[in-house]
Amino acid sequence: MTRLPPGPGNALVTTLRSLRDPYGFPLETARRYGDPYSWPSFLGPMVVTGSPEGIRTLFTADPDTYSALGAELLGPILGESNLILLSGERHRAMRKLQLPPFHGARMRAYGQIILDAAEAHAARWQRGRPIPVHRTMQEISLQVILEAVLGLREPGRREAFKAAVLAVIAALKPSFMFIESLRRPLLGLSAWARFQRRRAHTFALFEEELRVRRASPEPREDILSLLLSARYEDGSALTDDELLTQMMNLIVAGHETTASALAWSFHHIHREPAVKARLVEELRGLPEPLDPEAVARLPYLEAVCSEALRLEPVAPLIGRTLRKGLTLQGFELPPGISVGISILQVHRRADLYPEPERFRPERFLERSYTPFEYLPFGGGARRCIGAAFALYEMKLVLAAILRKHDLRAASDKPVRVAVRNTTVGPRGEVELLHA
Ligand code: HEM
Repeated sequence: MTRLPPGPGNALVTTLRSLRDPYGFPLETARRYGDPYSWPSFLGPMVVTGSPEGIRTLFTADPDTYSALGAELLGPILGESNLILLSGERHRAMRKLQLPPFHGARMRAYGQIILDAAEAHAARWQRGRPIPVHRTMQEISLQVILEAVLGLREPGRREAFKAAVLAVIAALKPSFMFIESLRRPLLGLSAWARFQRRRAHTFALFEEELRVRRASPEPREDILSLLLSARYEDGSALTDDELLTQMMNLIVAGHETTASALAWSFHHIHREPAVKARLVEELRGLPEPLDPEAVARLPYLEAVCSEALRLEPVAPLIGRTLRKGLTLQGFELPPGISVGISILQVHRRADLYPEPERFRPERFLERSYTPFEYLPFGGGARRCIGAAFALYEMKLVLAAILRKHDLRAASDKPVRVAVRNTTVGPRGEVELLHA
């Protein structure tokens, strides 16, 4: 029989404890059991590593060693053609179609959209009142992703999509995601039925947008337009169903993640006066109006974003399922087992990041890290396709707001961390005040 590494035994207890303490409990588990350790989950047993050697083994293995984690269970909910659930050749082909809109030069088209959205939302903050930074970041990132992905510049239309997408996200419940028997309509009254209704409404909006887009052939820069003209190697286009699924996925994957990362950045910048002073000084050197490319090149701003993504990873654990056997740090893992990469754990290693709990952007100026030591966007064949977009957005939003608004922390209470849908972010609000 295969010997798996030790780890906590009970899936329910493990899940509940990590929902309550999504950073503390996995770190405690790693300390207790060593590396790698076994992690029982509703998706079956998983062997987790948070060491650079283990991560190197997993990221450099042949991509066909793996299939996407939870694809069978989540396909009916997130869409069978969803990039995050595809494996093998289908994953490669779909990823190839979706990468070009996210390449460097394309980013420029979104720079002004991001600066305008950040300035407009921050202009609504009232003096003397606590500023709800996390909520503002969610609004900015949703507006940006809707404009970038769907090209929705008309506010009324954007509002309709915004409401529809937020309603779908709110209706997505872990109960029916992980327990198939709960996917019952129950006369239209169940959580599952509500989710299906809201998804159908959002897809109807998308379909309408597709019709409009096909009827007007003017060239556009948004991701939907680029995907509409993209072709697989055999010359075929994405089907409508594939398009709708990818649109929804990009909007969901792209907005909450970036909003949480930005909220953490604002939080830490305003808890470390020396960091804020150095960052504001760097931003002061830029002429008005802000040139997005000049902002993106600022070294300290980049270090601040990197440090926020290190200390507070929004995806602390990523996984894949083994299609073939694999040796991980001396353990012979059989097909069918899942492997996990603890981004959180490697990002908190004191040998790589001295004083790992401290927010110290300078560490990214003092040395460089390998993709097996620093990986907020995952790695290997499934690395986040929106990484450059997210980092660009973080830099532009921070620059646009910190240049115009002198802010301070509203309290010195620690901000705790919470599971938010499929990612992890600040629990509740991150509040700041005008200085
Ligand atoms: C700070 C913001 C973000 C963070 C921290 C983040 C993090 C991640 C991580 C850790 C993964 C899994 C990688 C792996 O399994 O190796 C991932 C996958 C993905 N992300 Fe992001 N992400 C962010 C923003 C975005 C944005 C803005 C988009 C798109 C607009 C996006 C789209 C995707 C997609 C489509 C995948 C699946 C890739 C695949 O399976 O091939 N993400 N992201």
